Amino acid sequence: MSEVQLVWPNKDLLLYASGSSGYEWVDPSKRRTLQSAQLEHLGTERMDGENILAIGDGLDVLEAIGARTDVFRDGIRLVYIDPPFNTNADVRQYNDMMNRAMWLSMMRDRLNALKPYLAENASIWVHLDDAEVHRARSVLDEVFGEKAFVASVIWQKKTTRDSRAAFSTNHDTILVYAPSGPRKWKTSRNLLIKDASHLVNKDDDPRGPWIDAPFTAPGYRSAQQYKIKTPSGRVLGPPRGRSWYATEPTYNNLLEDGRIWFPKDGDGSPRLKLFSHQLRGLVPFTVWGSTDTGTNDDAKRHLMALFPEKDVFDTPKPESLLERIIHIATNSGDLVLDIFGGSGTTAAVAHKMRRRWVTAERNAQTVLDFLLPRMKHVTAGTDPGGISDVASWKGGGNFSVVHVPPRIGKSDQIEALQAISQRLPDLRLRGKHSYVA
Ligand SMILES: C[S@@+](CC[C@H](N)C(=O)[O-])C[C@H]1O[C@@H](n2cnc3c(N)ncnc32)[C@H](O)[C@@H]1O
Repeated sequence: MSEVQLVWPNKDLLLYASGSSGYEWVDPSKRRTLQSAQLEHLGTERMDGENILAIGDGLDVLEAIGARTDVFRDGIRLVYIDPPFNTNADVRQYNDMMNRAMWLSMMRDRLNALKPYLAENASIWVHLDDAEVHRARSVLDEVFGEKAFVASVIWQKKTTRDSRAAFSTNHDTILVYAPSGPRKWKTSRNLLIKDASHLVNKDDDPRGPWIDAPFTAPGYRSAQQYKIKTPSGRVLGPPRGRSWYATEPTYNNLLEDGRIWFPKDGDGSPRLKLFSHQLRGLVPFTVWGSTDTGTNDDAKRHLMALFPEKDVFDTPKPESLLERIIHIATNSGDLVLDIFGGSGTTAAVAHKMRRRWVTAERNAQTVLDFLLPRMKHVTAGTDPGGISDVASWKGGGNFSVVHVPPRIGKSDQIEALQAISQRLPDLRLRGKHSYVA
């Protein structure tokens, strides 16, 4: 434990969700007296290996999914959270005015709860502004250790100037931690692609867009001299003075894995498909400009295009910001977690980038208005905005919806939960809290 620590009232207590939007301090010795975290499936029950949209407090959701499913089995590779910043601002969809001690315990307890489920090469990205970022960094040091600190990323969130303010704040901070430490984590993170515009998905590969390179290597290597048959039936050897790029068994594996591309409608020489994470690129800077990663207003415009009839969600993050984070921190198939789901940017981008995802959102109305319909658009291929183009996203995949009721008090979100259930196909209610007639 570090010699220097932040202190706050009730730090020795735990903070559990109570009812739909409150919190309650709980003495750790009395934790066992709380009812255990329940998990109710809405719609088709298909949990393991699935993407999950959970309606409930992040801590309850982590405990319920961790205890009752296999979903965290392979470890969470990336945690991105964008919690209420505690700015005292009037936010339409949630309370952003928590007592400071409660906010700190709320963060610490949820970070502690996800810690056991992290993969070895995981990273945790916490998106905040100046209201709490300095205190949150102390909390993160406490939970993961000071040596787990990797970077503090400055994201340019807007391009317009507020002329009434002392300073026109135009950035948020994203704190990045890796429990394995920055040196080890660096060996598994991805570099930024120099120019993504030349990646194209010529064969609708579910892993995303790619570029192709010749499947040859310089010089004569006997193990790399063999015949390759093109789909059109031509039998080819490597060009004179060169070898194929890999030995025959490796070539066969690559072919089976869909990593070999034959141009000219299957008549050309074989080429190796390279996805973004396989390209040598650039070490990310810690200052991210809006040209590369978008602004809050870009995110709002995307949501307004998807839901023209709704009041805009107040604090969405742009898909291009999440695209960069998910690209750096994960590979296709890895599990991404966000327990402050909001309008669902993390889940949407993870899905379009062919990652698995779990997201939790406490406000059922936000799920009904934004998160659920957004994910339905993403899976149906009817969301042309955000990163759909660059990810060559045309729809597909699935997700489960679960409700995790608060462990203290009762949910008063019955109407929104009912409406969510009605919007899911193949409704099957489980668990003892049957709130649907
Ligand atoms: C800043 S917003 C997240 C915005 C999101 N990144 C996006 O792009 O839309 C924070 C969200 O966390 C939700 N929230 C607050 N406390 C929560 C908790 N304890 N568990 C789960 N969700 C919570 C709020 O309802 C709100 O929707």
